[in-house]
Amino acid sequence: MPVVVIASSKGGAGKSTTAVLLGTELARKGVPVTMLDCDPNHSLSIWAGKGTLPENIQALSDVTESSIVKTIKQHDVDGAVVIVDLEGVASRMVSRAISQADLVLIPMRATILDATIGAQSLQLIAEEEEAINRRIAHAVVFTMTRAIRSKQQNGIENSLREGGIDIVEPPLMERAAFSALFEFGGDLHSMETKQGNMSSAIENAEAFAMAVYKRLTEALK
Ligand SMILES: Nc1ncnc2c1ncn2[C@@H]1O[C@H](COP(=O)(O)OP(=O)(O)OP(=O)(O)O)[C@@H](O)[C@H]1O
Ligand SMILES: [Mg+2]
Repeated sequence: MPVVVIASSKGGAGKSTTAVLLGTELARKGVPVTMLDCDPNHSLSIWAGKGTLPENIQALSDVTESSIVKTIKQHDVDGAVVIVDLEGVASRMVSRAISQADLVLIPMRATILDATIGAQSLQLIAEEEEAINRRIAHAVVFTMTRAIRSKQQNGIENSLREGGIDIVEPPLMERAAFSALFEFGGDLHSMETKQGNMSSAIENAEAFAMAVYKRLTEALK
């Protein structure tokens, strides 16, 4: 079953947030989810250690360069989704994770700097495809976007689309509830302290997770 790798060598691009939102929303729809924390900074484990881990989710920490391929294979079982959260670097660990992916998501803020560094992640995927001689499905996720699109965002989107890059719709907007996940743990639905417009945040996360799920079912055809 599908292995989703969240990768961008840009620090703070929104990888761990994307991983948690995707994992928690898929789990809520009844999909068993295994989340692998492959970042020595342990963002995902910090989230998992707070509050109660939602049903259908297991989170594993301390996955290393030597254990990543074996760990992914062990948890890549029928009916489950494996989500891999990586450090914001380009490393052998990142390459190994990408080589095991059914889908790579590249979170990116809609800024020129993020897009430039995001392009390096796209290049890394292309190199990995060449090395293992298979296509690796991938898509950009815009993160921390604002309700009013900037000119910069439109420009970046257009140039990615012209380059044939898949972009997940909707993007993950900048929302207090999303960053609060790392404060409270759990998922958006169990968050006791209201953070901004919760129903819009939930709607955004659900639509995002479903758009990714659709790609996963296509990638496995
Ligand atoms: N959509 C969002 N809305 C609000 N805050 C966000 C959103 N996405 C990310 N953030 C915040 O931005 C910061 C960086 O996000 P995150 O940790 O997900 O990025 P990352 O790519 O995993 O970073 P690193 O490279 O350090 O692992 C965090 O403080 C997070 O709470
Ligand atoms: Mg992270």
